[in-house]
Amino acid sequence: MITKNKLKNPIFCIVAMNENRIIGDGKKLLWHLPGDLKRLKKITMGSPLIMGRKTWDSIGRPLPGRANIVLTNSISWRAEGAIVVNSFEDAIFRADQWIDLNWKIDQKIVQKKIFLFGGAEIYKIGLKYCDNIEMTKVNFNLKAGIKFPKLNETDWEKTKLQHNLATNDVPEHSFWHYRRIV
Ligand SMILES: NC(=O)c1ccc[n+]([C@@H]2O[C@H](COP(=O)([O-])OP(=O)(O)OC[C@H]3O[C@@H](n4cnc5c(N)ncnc54)[C@H](OP(=O)(O)O)[C@@H]3O)[C@@H](O)[C@H]2O)c1
Repeated sequence: MITKNKLKNPIFCIVAMNENRIIGDGKKLLWHLPGDLKRLKKITMGSPLIMGRKTWDSIGRPLPGRANIVLTNSISWRAEGAIVVNSFEDAIFRADQWIDLNWKIDQKIVQKKIFLFGGAEIYKIGLKYCDNIEMTKVNFNLKAGIKFPKLNETDWEKTKLQHNLATNDVPEHSFWHYRRIV
């Protein structure tokens, strides 16, 4: 069993959601935020990502410069560029292994942290191991969809990092850092 105090590398969560905690429709994201994608790339570059098979399918390719660790219940599912695992424990093991191996090769690029990359099923499993969330809050009016788990608001110190007003095609959104305090 994994316990948080025994993690070799910390797990950070990264997510974009609307005011109703909606993160997607099950197949894709519901918005296109070029600035958020740039931020996501910068934050996660050089780290392993742990994602569910449905999130992998929604992206459709490996994200370069990062380990793409994909959780599935299938023992035969394969995809080029994906490190396939059948348990969250194994996902962490493979992420630590990737960091160790790549750290020896390039310490300038590799970050000693793992990202919980979604979707909702994977957030639900992994959030308890995270003390930090890189959150994008999107002003997007929608009540139904795939939801991020409900956080206990008093457990987190919240820092607003940047606010972006709406432009023609891009809804208003803001970048936040959540740090667990209890
Ligand atoms: N806004 C954001 O920040 C963000 C981030 C990521 C994803 N998303 C969105 O979220 C949606 C997908 O989320 P989702 O919750 O439907 O799916 P998901 O979490 O991406 O993937 C679920 C799949 O992961 C596998 N899985 C889950 N738990 C497992 C376990 N304990 N052991 C082994 N495999 C396990 C299963 O794959 P198998 O069915 O193959 O067994 C399951 O069907 C999409 O719309 C995507 O665009 C949004």
